[in-house]
Amino acid sequence: MGGVSVVQQQPWWKTSVVYQIYPRSFMDSNGDGIGDIPGILMKLDYLEKLGIDVIWLSPVYDSPNDDNGYDIRDYRTIHEEFGTMEDLETLIEEAKKRGIRIVMDLVVNHTSDEHVWFTESKSPESPYRNYYIWKQGNPPNNWGSVFSGSAWERTEEDWHYLHLFSRKQPDLNWRHEPLRQDIYDMMTYWLNKGIGGFRMDVINFISKHPELPDGIVHEGSSFGDGSPYFMNGPEIHTYLQEMHEQVLSHYDILTVGEMPGATTEDALLYTKPERNELNMVFTFEHMDLDSGPGGKWNFTQLHLPDLKRNLEKWQLALAHEGWNSLYWNNHDQPRIVSRFGNDKEYREHSAKMLALVLHGLKGTPYIYQGEELGMTNIQLPDISHYKDIETINMYNERLAAGEEPESILKRIYVKGRDNARTPMQWTSDGGFTTGTPWLAQNPNTATINADQAINDPDSIFAFYQQLIRLRKQLPMFTEGSFELLLPDDEALFIYKRTLGSTVWYIVANFTEETHHIKRTSISMPGSGYEIILANTQPTETSDGFELKPYDAFILSFEKGEGQ
Ligand code: NOJ
Repeated sequence: MGGVSVVQQQPWWKTSVVYQIYPRSFMDSNGDGIGDIPGILMKLDYLEKLGIDVIWLSPVYDSPNDDNGYDIRDYRTIHEEFGTMEDLETLIEEAKKRGIRIVMDLVVNHTSDEHVWFTESKSPESPYRNYYIWKQGNPPNNWGSVFSGSAWERTEEDWHYLHLFSRKQPDLNWRHEPLRQDIYDMMTYWLNKGIGGFRMDVINFISKHPELPDGIVHEGSSFGDGSPYFMNGPEIHTYLQEMHEQVLSHYDILTVGEMPGATTEDALLYTKPERNELNMVFTFEHMDLDSGPGGKWNFTQLHLPDLKRNLEKWQLALAHEGWNSLYWNNHDQPRIVSRFGNDKEYREHSAKMLALVLHGLKGTPYIYQGEELGMTNIQLPDISHYKDIETINMYNERLAAGEEPESILKRIYVKGRDNARTPMQWTSDGGFTTGTPWLAQNPNTATINADQAINDPDSIFAFYQQLIRLRKQLPMFTEGSFELLLPDDEALFIYKRTLGSTVWYIVANFTEETHHIKRTSISMPGSGYEIILANTQPTETSDGFELKPYDAFILSFEKGEGQ
């Protein structure tokens, strides 16, 4: 096979595949309807079988669950719903036996309002006062919260505190050095337990513009957009370098910063190794391409050339310095097969196509639980079934503004975060819990489930297994250069990877129509290829290939042969 040799001499996080677990929805061991750590332990063999190297665990810390754990009450305690610290230590140990590292979610832009720092901080004389951003009198600016309404909450004493997310998620004041030291101590505490790194929640929000200027009020909004003043703020690199020096540099770990609004220029600053900040960032740009003006709830149809150009931009910008993360899904995004694929007739085929296109890129791939099964979005009958604070707040806000419930529900069906959060589909009758799940199980678990998938050599699961295995064997995935072909084609996504004398053509049909591709249009050799992976045997024609709906494959050629 062209280019066979085992990937080596790279930091482990460059050759790894990460699997994200949203613990609440993964596996419930005790029948209370909520996933837990012992449940994850029960499924480690499944993950080992899939072949992943790293688990990113969404928050399991003590929390009042206003935002499902992204509102932390105590960074050093495990939420009782999820188990105990001992359970977590067992998880770290058991995962390690299977060659899997555990990456923890680090949520330090904000805490819960029930965190003791905040309850203390309510008193103006408290030594914790400066741990948060308090202002006396009227709100100092017009910023809106990401979860609707104002970003400022008034307290009885006529003070306001900043919360970029819910009012139960007050923002921490990173300008205050003692706060930073407390965070670094907490990080060290976790690293000393042997974890494999951190996924850092909205970490590029931690440095706010000191003057807190008003934001522009976009059409249709009652609040100002503060993002230019808190995304990638003035001190962000100083803080990350300090964190690196004091904490991160002492461990061999994976660090990934969740960074809405980070450009490729920003990403380079965050990830160039010599700058001593992070390993990689999560970009949002490709996830925003189907958002219209006014944000994600005003969605539009994805225009494929936009996606291709965007991924190309990231591939090229971080080709030689810095590093990319690759993802389609997480707990905040709708299911990719329902979004960019086809979750009906071509569900399996399009899910494999999407996997191939993403994993074929250079970077560290992230799989979100259920993606490997081709889990789909869900449509619940009315708002009372939804649990996500962002969804519920948006619903109430639009309802108050006069929008019809049916119209708002349609937005939720396409973009709501609960699409990603329905319980993992283990068996034909669910298999997630013996009780009542905290969020409705998708009824299509009858046909889409792990039980079925692991026994089917042709399943989406099996396809992910192959992609992961190949990544371990072929340095092309991590080292090959990238070139986008036919950028303006509205149906086909074709790119080339090159390493030494080996050239790959990664070819995918993003539509439910059949398309043809002429070899000459992409300078593809006429013969002598090898199929590295395909979701169907490629159909050759006299001058190229016929691509049926969602067909995708990787062809490998050796330069100088078969031309
Ligand atoms: C990003 C997380 O992924 C999301 O789930 C959460 O609501 C916000 N940050 C606030 O922590």
